[in-house]
Amino acid sequence: AYVVTEGCIRCKYMDCVSVCPVDCFYAGENMLVIHPDECIDCGVCEPECPAEAIRPDSDLGIGEWAALNARFAQAWPNITEKREPPADADEWKGRPGKAALLSP
Ligand code: SF4
Ligand code: F3S
Repeated sequence: AYVVTEGCIRCKYMDCVSVCPVDCFYAGENMLVIHPDECIDCGVCEPECPAEAIRPDSDLGIGEWAALNARFAQAWPNITEKREPPADADEWKGRPGKAALLSP
């Protein structure tokens, strides 16, 4: 499965939602996650993310984000259409240390 990582936090562009053929994104307050059992590994969302936040779970650098996606995909509502990103999304793009800002 593909995994949404730290880069999504407070960016939440949601371009990924528009392209996913199986609607397996789930939305928290300031980031999205992918349901690992629903993702079909098509890979089309990865290049669509302006924040480069989406990675395959084979990427050894994703750390705890795979587990976090699995956990929050159970708790957060499904999202199937792109909405308006946060007004300050661009200011948060690429910033380090966003993990602590995740709103569960
Ligand atoms: Fe959806 Fe494909 Fe991305 Fe998985 S890899 S989340 S199926 S667009
Ligand atoms: Fe997040 Fe990128 Fe989607 S910022 S909402 S993973 S397009």
